[in-house]
Amino acid sequence: MEHLKNSTQQIESYRRILLSLYPEVKQITENIPTYNPEYPFIADIPAQIIAHLCKNDTQKITQAIQGYIHFCDTFKQKQIEFVRNKVYAYQDFAQVNAEVYQNKAYMTQIYYPALLFSYLFSSNYFEILRIFLQIFIPLTQQKQGKTCEIGIGHGLLSSLLLKNNPHLQGIGIDISPVAREVTDQVSQFLGLSPIPVRIEDATQAISQKENAVMICAEVLEHLPNPEKLLQSIYAALDEGGLLFLTASINMESVDHLYLFQSDEEVVSMVEGTGFKVLERRVAFLTAQNYRNDERLQQRLMKRRNPCTSVLILSK
Ligand SMILES: C[S@@+](CC[C@H](N)C(=O)[O-])C[C@H]1O[C@@H](n2cnc3c(N)ncnc32)[C@H](O)[C@@H]1O
Repeated sequence: MEHLKNSTQQIESYRRILLSLYPEVKQITENIPTYNPEYPFIADIPAQIIAHLCKNDTQKITQAIQGYIHFCDTFKQKQIEFVRNKVYAYQDFAQVNAEVYQNKAYMTQIYYPALLFSYLFSSNYFEILRIFLQIFIPLTQQKQGKTCEIGIGHGLLSSLLLKNNPHLQGIGIDISPVAREVTDQVSQFLGLSPIPVRIEDATQAISQKENAVMICAEVLEHLPNPEKLLQSIYAALDEGGLLFLTASINMESVDHLYLFQSDEEVVSMVEGTGFKVLERRVAFLTAQNYRNDERLQQRLMKRRNPCTSVLILSK
């Protein structure tokens, strides 16, 4: 309990810095803990990881928060254009790869810190992590053997999976070389051996087959042809294997190429590939209390409120 008290204080100190620089997120950052009683347990690990990556240095933490603000601002500006034009601005994967994933400074200072802060302060990301910890990880307890995460990024999800199930051995694949550096630090912080990260374009091939468990979170919308990646994941998964999959819907970003307009579109694509849907949730980016309110969820979806489809699938 003492430990949770410390991490709650830590999150409060992040929130204070964030609101002093970016007061417009006051409501959403206050509402997420209010509407989600398990917030302290879910937010604990990303909060500690941020402190570790920033070496508990207030100046480094402030810089990482500025990275999160930069990311939120880019989203906001691009989202206004998206609502007007109904298409995402970028279409060229090679351009995004060169400007974003291969840009070491941007990935280190803005992109990965922003993704980690999103688990604390963005309602859709908090919900992704909640579902991963509370629903997906318990389902994987009977599994053993190989795991592979596509677009492993900072490595938090794979690290949590491996921490909770010592019978699994994992690798990650990511196109950005920075993913390996951050995943190394995150997995070691959680007391694991470093998770091997292969720097590859997952759309070309998935180099580890026969996986018992796979993860592909926030990657599909980054590809011009997400269906092709889903087919490769299906081929790389064992019969009966489990996949944790998320995909952004009606949500612009610095690197989103493929527009999903509803969670039906995502579900239809995964079922068309052959997967069976075990869990189907939608995580909204909103300050509203949508979690147990079906009608509000339907209204938000109809209004094209940005959200994330969160699916647990089996082969
Ligand atoms: C939004 S991040 C998601 C990171 C992490 N999975 C999460 O849920 O926070 C997308 C990740 O996918 C990686 N990525 C994008 N396109 C890829 C590709 N074609 N092959 C491998 N990785 C890719 C990016 O480098 C980035 O780390």
